[in-house]
Amino acid sequence: MWIFKVGVVGAGAMGGGIAQVVTFSGLPVVVKDIAPSQLEAARKHVEGIYQSRVDKGKMTHGQMQEKLALIEYTLSYDSFTDVDIVIEAVPEVMKVKQQVFRELDEVCPPDTIFASNTSALSITEMGAATKRPHKVIGMHFFNPAHVMKLVEIIPGAQTDQDTIDTVQQFAQDLRKIPVVVKECPGFLVNRLLMPYLNEAVLAVEEGAATAQQVDEAMGRNGFGWPMGPFFLMDMLGIDVCAHVGEYLYSHYGDRVKPARLFYKLVEAKRFGEKTGAGFYIYSATDAEPLEAIIQRMQQAGEVQTGTRFSVDRLIMPFLNEAALCVQEGIANVNDIDMACIAGIGMQVNKGGELVRMGPLEYMDEMGLDVVVEKLEALEKELGPRFHPVDILYQKVRAGELGKKTKRGFKEYTV
Ligand code: 3HC
Repeated sequence: MWIFKVGVVGAGAMGGGIAQVVTFSGLPVVVKDIAPSQLEAARKHVEGIYQSRVDKGKMTHGQMQEKLALIEYTLSYDSFTDVDIVIEAVPEVMKVKQQVFRELDEVCPPDTIFASNTSALSITEMGAATKRPHKVIGMHFFNPAHVMKLVEIIPGAQTDQDTIDTVQQFAQDLRKIPVVVKECPGFLVNRLLMPYLNEAVLAVEEGAATAQQVDEAMGRNGFGWPMGPFFLMDMLGIDVCAHVGEYLYSHYGDRVKPARLFYKLVEAKRFGEKTGAGFYIYSATDAEPLEAIIQRMQQAGEVQTGTRFSVDRLIMPFLNEAALCVQEGIANVNDIDMACIAGIGMQVNKGGELVRMGPLEYMDEMGLDVVVEKLEALEKELGPRFHPVDILYQKVRAGELGKKTKRGFKEYTV
């Protein structure tokens, strides 16, 4: 089927960003929320994105007005009677998402596709709450939605092939890169990203380094990421990260047990940029310095102390999880690398040159025997969450060590 009109439910940062992406491709979109203030914030967000294009000379004021005219902001479902797809971007609470889909079931035509922008929750469970589970699918955009190229497409257990094909084509029409991912908690990219972000928080609460030192070591001038983990979490929202972390922990167990500092910041409503303070302090100049919070946690014996920081400590859990996703068939090898490049801007600093590279090629370059050695050393030092996954041992036993043997996760001719 073809998409001619789009609905977005939830006008937060992601909902607004998605609406902008839709209009940029020339399609009309109706954005619904329950709060007028949210709709107003989304309108400002979308206008800001277009204004920045005008300022950069990438479009004229008239073109911007044409795009803005494609959006209807509303508090009701009245304009949802002829939408071909709805993308929900409401809070990450299963019951809330299910309720939204139930309401949509009553107003949308029977063949309208229901897509969820959930970061981690089960698409199958959402589908089960509707009369059209075959039309329910995950469509996970990355933040900022207008910049990041990846859209993860996650079919639920009952999603039909036509829905998958339509949504893949639609993502391409939005000038995004769709990657189909097998349903699992966190899907692909968040599943890899969270152990990395969590390890950064553990290192900081344990006093191994400061947030600034970690960001410096992991960012463009260090490992190569476009932004360090603390800047990234402050941008994404610490509430969002803590929620994804908690959800992954409930499914995957101790290897992704969230750091305590997440809870402290969430309790203090320090969600990051959007609340004026998170790991860093922005507009909330009266916020307590992070160091003071950490010191109190350490003095109360709430966290371990005396561990070491290293780039490997953060990167190796990310790589290990990528290997596990190959083992579990979550996505194919090329898609895993592509998703990390397009979704989180993965790049590696090679002597000052930033080279785009996904985790599997990066492991192949390092040598899978070296990957196993590093993980085993970290396991001895910091615990079982670093235990190398089976597929790494299998590949090493088979002599598939990566680029040096011309075969690892990928094959190499030179
Ligand atoms: N918040 C929102 N938008 C931001 C931003 C921020 N903190 N920082 C930059 N941007 C926007 C800018 O406004 C600009 O938009 P424009 O084109 O409309 O003017 C655009 O990003 C590019 O910004 P810059 O020109 O300053 O370019 P940079 O080279 O500094 O890149 C970046 C900024 C694209 C955000 C880059 O740092 C990056 O790729 N960071 C990684 C982001 C990432 O990993 N996102 C995915 C996270 S995981 C996720 O979203 C899943 C979810 O489920 C949790």
